[in-house]
Amino acid sequence: MSVEQEKSRLTRAGDRQETASRLLASAARTSYDPLIEIDWEAPVPDDLYGMTPEWCSLYGTSMWDEMTQQQRITLTIHEAASIAGTGIWFEMILMQMLIRDIYFHDPSTAHVQFALTEIADECRHSTMFARSAAKFGVPSYRPKAWIRTAARPFKATATGSLAYGGTLFAEEILDMMQRDFMRDKRVQPLTRTVSKIHVVEEARHIRFAREETVRRVAHATRFQRTRIRLVLAITAYFVVTSLVNKNVYAAAGLDADAAEKAAKSNVHYHDMVRRGCGNTVEFLTEVGLIGGPSKILLRRAHII
Ligand SMILES: [Fe+2]
Ligand SMILES: [Fe+2]
Repeated sequence: MSVEQEKSRLTRAGDRQETASRLLASAARTSYDPLIEIDWEAPVPDDLYGMTPEWCSLYGTSMWDEMTQQQRITLTIHEAASIAGTGIWFEMILMQMLIRDIYFHDPSTAHVQFALTEIADECRHSTMFARSAAKFGVPSYRPKAWIRTAARPFKATATGSLAYGGTLFAEEILDMMQRDFMRDKRVQPLTRTVSKIHVVEEARHIRFAREETVRRVAHATRFQRTRIRLVLAITAYFVVTSLVNKNVYAAAGLDADAAEKAAKSNVHYHDMVRRGCGNTVEFLTEVGLIGGPSKILLRRAHII
């Protein structure tokens, strides 16, 4: 395949209704109701990690080496819940953006019906994430209050390729992690089932968001594109840096300040974040939504 062909493969958006019809058919075949699908009464084993340890923000540091196995298990359970908590935050933002985006469209179209299906998926996901944290006996971790407040204008106004591009950052990094969690025998069965359900349903959301990004960016002027790049980088920065709530370290009996410092300079974790964002970065670069000075922020969050 030539470079040009490869480029067009990456950026091509199928017909809007055709894609939505395919995604609707897939949703009809494979969707889950976590309240029914998950055994919420099953006991929680005390010897399994909350998530793949290699994805833990302290993995690879000397602090991690000095921790007891029990501390590592506790930390990964809390950190997985913190990531899911950030997931809930972004899903709430996404649901609002989707509702606004389809407000004027004809509900009889496959496109609107898939958007509604996606909102229904996100409702179930957020409930599932909240429930699993409760099942692990973990507090409700959320991004810092000022970040949630500052995100209000974004969630109230973001549309088009900004909304869908921002969504991709949140959905694809979670997707990369959860693909590891669901296959990992060292991980809690609850995390593995939650991850599997999320990965299956998010694959459709990612397809939807990618194609919509391509369609919408095509109409953006050069000035709009520059603005989108900047806001997109800010969004990605706060999503990625909000994944791990500082309180998870204290929950594992660690000095939270020292642990946060160790995580901030953890090269292994930065590599994992870059890996997690790799597909999104490649795609958004291809469609012209990553570039210029906004890359400084992405570098600071170790996204690139
Ligand atoms: Fe989701
Ligand atoms: Fe999603």
